Amino acid sequence: MPKVIAMAGKGGTGKTTISALLINYMLHNNLTPVLAVDADANANLNELLELEVNLTLGEIRRDLKGDIPAHITRDQFMEMKVHQALIEAKGYDLLVMGQPDGPGCYCAANQHLAMTMDKLADNYRYILVDNEAGMEHLSRMNLRSIDLLLVVSDPSARGILTAKRISELTKPLKIEIKEKFLIVNRAPDPLPEALSDKIKETTENTDLPLAGILSSSDQLIEQELSGKSYLNLTEDAAIIQQAYEIFSKIIK
Ligand SMILES: Nc1ncnc2c1ncn2[C@@H]1O[C@H](COP(=O)(O)OP(=O)(O)OP(=O)(O)O)[C@@H](O)[C@H]1O
Ligand SMILES: [Mg+2]
Repeated sequence: MPKVIAMAGKGGTGKTTISALLINYMLHNNLTPVLAVDADANANLNELLELEVNLTLGEIRRDLKGDIPAHITRDQFMEMKVHQALIEAKGYDLLVMGQPDGPGCYCAANQHLAMTMDKLADNYRYILVDNEAGMEHLSRMNLRSIDLLLVVSDPSARGILTAKRISELTKPLKIEIKEKFLIVNRAPDPLPEALSDKIKETTENTDLPLAGILSSSDQLIEQELSGKSYLNLTEDAAIIQQAYEIFSKIIK
C-alpha cells in the first residue's frame, strides 16, 4: 500500500511549491516511485516540474458520459484513458485532476474513476496530493486514509490559526488522517526572534505540531520566473537544505 501525503492550506501559502520541493526530496532519497496528483482545478504543479499536461481526469470523466468505443467496457475505457493522462517522468508520474463536476454529482463516471485510481495506486510507494484550499477533490479520489497531511501557513499567528481551521475541514470528509504537521512558509530571513517565539508558542501542545519553517527564498522566485524545473534545485540552494531537513523529520 502506498503512503498518501496531502497538502492543505490557504490560497497562495505555498502548497504547490512545497509539493515540488517534496518530489525533489523523494527523488534525491530514492523514495520512489511517486505518484504526484495535482488536485487543484487550476493545475500548476506541472509548471514547476517543467511538464506539459495533455489530458486531465475531469476531461476523461466528461468523455465517459458520452459514447465510448463499442468493443470495450467503460472500465477498460477509463483505464486506457487514465494511462494516457499519466505523465511519466523519472522516478515519478503526474496525474492532473482538472475541473470537478458540478456540485453533488456522484455519477457513474466517478465510480469508474475511483476504481481505476485504486488499481493505479498499487504501483507506487508514495502518493502526493497537491490540493487547492477547499480540498474538494480529496473526497472524490476514493482515499480511505491520508498518512500525512501537511498544512502550510504564512509566518503569522493569525495565519497559523487559519491553518488549524483548515486542517479541521478534513473531518467531515470521513478520511482518516494518521498524522498532520504545520509548515510555516515564506518566513523572513533571518527570522526575528520574536516571530520565532510566537510561532513556537502558537504551535506548542496542539494537534497541528510544527514540522519546520521555510524562508522566503529568492532562489525559488528566480526558478519560477525562469520556468525551470524545481527538481533541478540542489543542496547548494539554502531553501533545499531547509526543505530536506524538514522532510527528513516527517517522511518515513
Ligand atoms: N518560500 C518561498 N519563497 C519565495 N516565494 C515563495 C515561497 N513559497 C512560495 N512562493 C511563491 O508564492 C507564490 C504562491 O506559491 P504556491 O503557488 O506554491 O502557493 P499555493 O498554496 O499552491 O497557491 P494556490 O492556493 O493558489 O494553489 C508563488 O509565486 C511561489 O513562487
Ligand atoms: Mg497551488
